[in-house]
Amino acid sequence: MRKTLFFALCAGLLLASGAQAVETANKPVVDDSALPRLGKVWRETNPYRGEAAAFDIGRSAYNQTCARCHGADAATNAAPAPDLRNLDRGCRRIQNPLTKEHCMADNDAYFAKTVQNGKVIVGITHMPPWRDALSQEQAWAIQVFIEGQAKAAAAKARAGAGK
Ligand code: HEC
Repeated sequence: MRKTLFFALCAGLLLASGAQAVETANKPVVDDSALPRLGKVWRETNPYRGEAAAFDIGRSAYNQTCARCHGADAATNAAPAPDLRNLDRGCRRIQNPLTKEHCMADNDAYFAKTVQNGKVIVGITHMPPWRDALSQEQAWAIQVFIEGQAKAAAAKARAGAGK
């Protein structure tokens, strides 16, 4: 009888924490050896913009780790989690090169911090921390991929509007 009660309690606890249990950070299986090594200390800004290999490596890592919440290929605004193509939207509109650089630096710091720490608000894990699951090489490559998708979507929208 006691045992049954114990199991019932455990099951209840498991159920109560169930929403968080599925939100664990998983390690992607991706060969990122084509990217320059960055070491343990995280860079302040993304060092891979213009790095040819980053987009495809980022795409693979993104689809294995982020897509289940943020949408396949970062190509939808109908996923449960925010559309990450909007992250650098404000910066893309800025014309002044120095202001744009500051905006992107700020954007990179936010991306790196958010990915490392996840989004845990009043004890509820909206997004798990990726610190131990992703290397910084993979994280910056993911950002390059997302930005590539954002540019592609913007170009498509412009082409549509020009018709
Ligand atoms: C379990 C679902 C889940 C997974 C997996 C996930 N995220 Fe998130 N992420 C969220 C949610 C939900 C939010 C919004 C949280 C909030 O603002 O309260 C978020 C927010 C973010 C933000 C901030 C967005 C903004 O507009 O401020 C970034 C950046 C981000 N995620 C990057 C990633 C990356 C990169 C990955 C893959 C490595 C990833 N996420 C995987 C659920 C997830």
